[in-house]
Amino acid sequence: MSLLEVRDLHVEFHTRDGVAQAVNGVSFGVEAGETLAVLGESGSGKSVTAQAVMGILDMPPGRITGGEILFQGQDLLRLPEDKRRRIRGARMAMIFQDALSSLNP
Ligand SMILES: Nc1ncnc2c1ncn2[C@@H]1O[C@H](COP(=O)(O)OP(=O)(O)OP(=O)(O)O)[C@@H](O)[C@H]1O
Ligand SMILES: [Mg+2]
Repeated sequence: MSLLEVRDLHVEFHTRDGVAQAVNGVSFGVEAGETLAVLGESGSGKSVTAQAVMGILDMPPGRITGGEILFQGQDLLRLPEDKRRRIRGARMAMIFQDALSSLNP
């Protein structure tokens, strides 16, 4: 069983200007002890994917419209918020993009 498995993830944002499809069917897996780098141009959905995995997506305007996020086999998208909160921080963490402002260099 993978540590993390993201399957066909879809995320969209509902704004005044319409619906923005930010993530369109992303799938990947990460094994324990493995490092995965995701590359893509600015705005291609890397941060939004990470926010969805962490459960810190702004909803609204964001909405996860499809897919599964399995953490040690458990679908995080079907887990109640209190159980997700117990995973976040203890077993899963995120270093934010502007690392110099969130980490002591
Ligand atoms: N809160 C939001 N409201 C509306 N649109 C958003 C919001 N957050 C992200 N988006 C849109 O989602 C898309 C994906 O953005 P994201 O930040 O994931 O890109 P990225 O791949 O991390 O880019 P970068 O390399 O610049 O960090 C972009 O089109 C962005 O404008
Ligand atoms: Mg980003």
